[in-house]
Amino acid sequence: MDIFHERASLRKELHSLKNQGKTIGLVPTMGALHQGHLSLVGQAAAENDIVVVSIFVNPTQFDNKDDLSKYPRDLDRDISLLHTVHPTIMIFAPDVAEIYTDDISSSSFDFDGLEFQMEGRFRQGHFDGVGTVVKRLFEIIEPDHAYFGEKDYQQLQIIRTLVKKHKLPVSIHGCPIKREENGLAMSSRNERLPDDLRNEAGFIYEILKTSRAQFGTKSVQDIKTWISDKVNEHPKFRLEYIEIANADTLIPARQKESGRKYRAFIAVYAGEVRLIDNIALN
Ligand code: PAJ
Repeated sequence: MDIFHERASLRKELHSLKNQGKTIGLVPTMGALHQGHLSLVGQAAAENDIVVVSIFVNPTQFDNKDDLSKYPRDLDRDISLLHTVHPTIMIFAPDVAEIYTDDISSSSFDFDGLEFQMEGRFRQGHFDGVGTVVKRLFEIIEPDHAYFGEKDYQQLQIIRTLVKKHKLPVSIHGCPIKREENGLAMSSRNERLPDDLRNEAGFIYEILKTSRAQFGTKSVQDIKTWISDKVNEHPKFRLEYIEIANADTLIPARQKESGRKYRAFIAVYAGEVRLIDNIALN
């Protein structure tokens, strides 16, 4: 397992591997790895000669400074977990100065309106921060393939748009959501949930599945109302948003139209921990 903290040494190593004709797959992460991350790494390892996993808690994508300071960090644990998936993964774990030098700020991006929906409405500047760091990672690592989870479906669509607009030579792969046994989507933030909330939070996936069954028979508005009522039945949970949107443009749907793909998106506070999830409806 090779660990690189500096971009120059990583680039030097990758340069020689590329010269040998090896393909590079990148999995960008913020660490605190779980089986969701590892499934992306597994797919990258199956489809590439070399896998690079970046571990970098990106300050510019946190709209909430408290969330940034509480973000779990344990590089040694992450390294041992990665070792269980593949013995020869390359890890890029830069410090903030290595990515941002002395200007910790984001560029501003036009993602064709994707950035104004859902997470973009509730997390100011979040996607500019994500776009900035992912573009830098692509420039440093120059991967052939990069892997992102559908857990952050809006982020995945935004990265696809980033690549298309900036003509970046990398192909983007979306990977399915991994869930805990009770259905809760795996997330590094789940570690911050007390046991009772973590157990109860499985209901979020249950209501998403029910909304999928209702889609096409009930109206979009009725499904959204039903979901918000369901969340409000749980005193320890607070709904931030529920949206049913076109799966490509993320524009909120009024009704189901034939030939289009839709997804439901939800953000819920469990105590002080913010959880997001989504599901394909058709
Ligand atoms: P992070 O939250 O660490 O997630 C890294 C990748 O793992 C993302 O592509 C995310 O969608 C995926 N992932 C997380 N939980 C998952 C799950 N339960 N099932 C499948 N995939 C899952 O997303 C980020 O980091 C950052 O925004 C990043 C892209 C690294 C830029 O800083």
